[in-house]
Amino acid sequence: MNQGLTLLPQSATAAARATDTLYLVLVGFSGLIAAIFITLIIVFCYRYRRNAQADRSKPPSHAWGLEAAWTIAPLLIFLWLFAWAARDYAVQARAPDNAMQIFIVAKQWVWTVEHPNGRREINELHIPVDTPVKLIMTSQDVIHSFFVPAFRNKRDVVPGRYSTIWFQADRPGKYLLLCAEYCGTEHSEMKGRIIAMEPEDYTRWEQGGAGEAGLAQQGFALFRQHGCMGCHAAASTVHAPELSGLLGRRVHLSDGSSLVADETYVRDSIMEPQKAIVAGYDAIMPSFKNQLNEEEIMAIIEYIRSLGPDQLMGERP
Ligand code: CUA
Repeated sequence: MNQGLTLLPQSATAAARATDTLYLVLVGFSGLIAAIFITLIIVFCYRYRRNAQADRSKPPSHAWGLEAAWTIAPLLIFLWLFAWAARDYAVQARAPDNAMQIFIVAKQWVWTVEHPNGRREINELHIPVDTPVKLIMTSQDVIHSFFVPAFRNKRDVVPGRYSTIWFQADRPGKYLLLCAEYCGTEHSEMKGRIIAMEPEDYTRWEQGGAGEAGLAQQGFALFRQHGCMGCHAAASTVHAPELSGLLGRRVHLSDGSSLVADETYVRDSIMEPQKAIVAGYDAIMPSFKNQLNEEEIMAIIEYIRSLGPDQLMGERP
């Protein structure tokens, strides 16, 4: 991980190399413009120095061609750079649908990782190479920022909501994970590492955690323990929204608006159920604030995700 002094940190994703190319092109253009200006300054200093035999009789007041050229050429260059950067950004902003999902909880001053199979890690994140990985992240206290220099991407991790980031490492190795938002006295110590492995090594590693209940199973246990089944089970007499196939489904709300249910929506519905009431239902859901921690909420979300559209609530996933 120690690389000494290099122009750029090592890169381990295609997105990182795309970012480097764009960055170097920007630096190149800036250098080119600076070189043109410095050359002109030197040339004019020499040509029009005092006592030089230059013709100063009829200085031109306008040079339309020149002015048009130095207006239009940078405009076109900037628009091209914008289109290029916007395309790269769009690719990095949206995770592919088949991405592997892993939960991250940040707190002063550690990164906790929750794999769907129930394996937990502290300050380490094992991932397979050549596989898109999407992280669903939240904080238990203050704002942190998930930053992996080798992947060239960074995302704030904010309490009370989920933010996501995705990447696809293409070379096995260990990469530094940093917190890039000042979060208290030990902010600079809040670091870990990403361990990118060949898929078969990853599978072996993943199975090494066998014996732990998967996140969805833990969620099911919590779901039962907190009495959610009383209203959300198919056979219950209380009228509560059906949760099967909820994630990714469009939900119509009582105020006439609608949204596509994502992890943040499910989290909000558990913590602040009065915020968004599903059309046709009464606002009777109690808040589970202070009863569930972030890891438990993630487990419940995994449980809900594990329920296929045709699976009745209350069955084991
Ligand atoms: Cu967490 Cu800085």
